[in-house]
Amino acid sequence: QRVERRAAEPWDAQSVDSTDGSAQNRLLIKGGRVVNDDMMQDADVYIEDGIIKQVGTNLHTPGGTRVVEAKGHLVMPGGIDTHTHMQLPFMGTFAVDDFYTGTRAALAGGTTMIMDFAIPQKGESLVEAYHRWRSWADPKVCCDYALHVGVTWWCDKVGKEMEELTEEHGINSFKMFMAYKDTWQLDDHDLLESFKQCKEIGALAQVHAENGDIIKENTAKLLDMGITGPEGHELSRPEEVEAEATNRACVLANQVGCPLYVVHVMSKSAADVVSNKRRQGHIVFGEPIAASLGTDGTHYYHKCWRHAAAHVMGPPLRPDCETPKYLMDLLANGDLQTTGTDNCTFSASQKALGKDDFTKIPNGVNGVEDRMSVIWEKGVVSGKIDPCKFVAVTSTNAAKIFNIYPKKGRIAVGSDADIVVWNPHATRTISAKTHYQAVDFNIFEGMEVHGIADYVICHGRVVVEEGNVRAVSGMGKFVPTPSHSPYVYGRVQERDIANAPKKVDRAPYDGPVIQLNNQG
Ligand code: URP
Ligand code: ZN
Ligand code: ZN
Ligand code: ZN
Repeated sequence: QRVERRAAEPWDAQSVDSTDGSAQNRLLIKGGRVVNDDMMQDADVYIEDGIIKQVGTNLHTPGGTRVVEAKGHLVMPGGIDTHTHMQLPFMGTFAVDDFYTGTRAALAGGTTMIMDFAIPQKGESLVEAYHRWRSWADPKVCCDYALHVGVTWWCDKVGKEMEELTEEHGINSFKMFMAYKDTWQLDDHDLLESFKQCKEIGALAQVHAENGDIIKENTAKLLDMGITGPEGHELSRPEEVEAEATNRACVLANQVGCPLYVVHVMSKSAADVVSNKRRQGHIVFGEPIAASLGTDGTHYYHKCWRHAAAHVMGPPLRPDCETPKYLMDLLANGDLQTTGTDNCTFSASQKALGKDDFTKIPNGVNGVEDRMSVIWEKGVVSGKIDPCKFVAVTSTNAAKIFNIYPKKGRIAVGSDADIVVWNPHATRTISAKTHYQAVDFNIFEGMEVHGIADYVICHGRVVVEEGNVRAVSGMGKFVPTPSHSPYVYGRVQERDIANAPKKVDRAPYDGPVIQLNNQG
């Protein structure tokens, strides 16, 4: 069975059900196999007004209820992409997929919620940046979204704003950059201050883990040698540059008892750091992305400049082509927990800003549309993870860590009706020619994937139906993420008490003490 995907049509945005009446509000997903992170069951799912009302067999449902036939299909929580950058102003331009095209593409692939980043410029108010992102996203989003906020500089006011964002604006995660020297990078002192503040307010500290000083040093050398092409991007920041920063972030966070979340884990050695630190009792989470699970860094050496440049992102994909399998195995055994995409897309003419200098190629790749299929293919079809684990790493774990579970990430009575009816047998071939994203390149071009979102239900509305997307700008909502997630902070207090330094009671020394003179 092969499902053909057609390209986006201009009328799609308007073609949403105008009958927002009773039938639209009642939906029965019938005959499928419901998959949660901890169990599977053959059951029907009844939805009313965007909320799951019943899960079971022989359900009594009111007349006029729309029925979606799911026989032979899996009924799973919609995907949560923990890491996107829609319309990000970056490196002199804006990411081409905005909150409309990006979230519409997300839905097409079975993702019903994204988590994006509001990133203030150095010296700019974090709260103002948050409001700016809200003003961009709110009118455009087709699916639900939450925000992480970047901490790109430090002073006491930044700490106060973090508190305000957590208490009043539904932010429970802050991203600190260890790369992008001279723009967003924080030094160790400022990292420590921001980690301490995260802990104080019950937020999760996130890091972009790469050593920006080393990258600056290597970049100058490479350009001097005449290496100006996209391979220079990878050569300037090899694997150990990511691993060093990952280790340093873990140590700094652990020293102040702050839970840590490492975004875009791209290499074996960085992933090993996360695994090992977890074994040592650190509270640390790791997020590989569709790109690092689905492709590799050999593309930087491609003879076609445009092809190589399309893969430029930071940290880079790794030339070691075993990396994707390795990262998937760590997701399988629980050493890594969530999957994002770092979706931050730039078309050929934007990438070309760096045609003569790799440092000017806007960093970022696609993924938001294909993440679910790529993980299904590389994880489930390869036999590394089962459907329950697939749900865990694409949805549930994110909902737990970011404290929106079980509203999101679960098929259960009372949860939001964000559901994907997954056809595990159908195949499609990923291509920029047929994808919904606005970008003109797809890093997964030509990959044949099993697993297709036959139906996607967002807030109880059928928004994807056999390959057609019917989404409307502004249909999604901002989802506040409350502080002190129990999945993150559940053992912090006890751990602090257990690990607290203990004073040794002893009799004071009462012998002689030498006198220090001023020359000493
Ligand atoms: O290359 C990347 N990753 N672009 C987006 C910004 C970031 O650091 O996540
Ligand atoms: Zn980053
Ligand atoms: Zn990112
Ligand atoms: Zn089907």
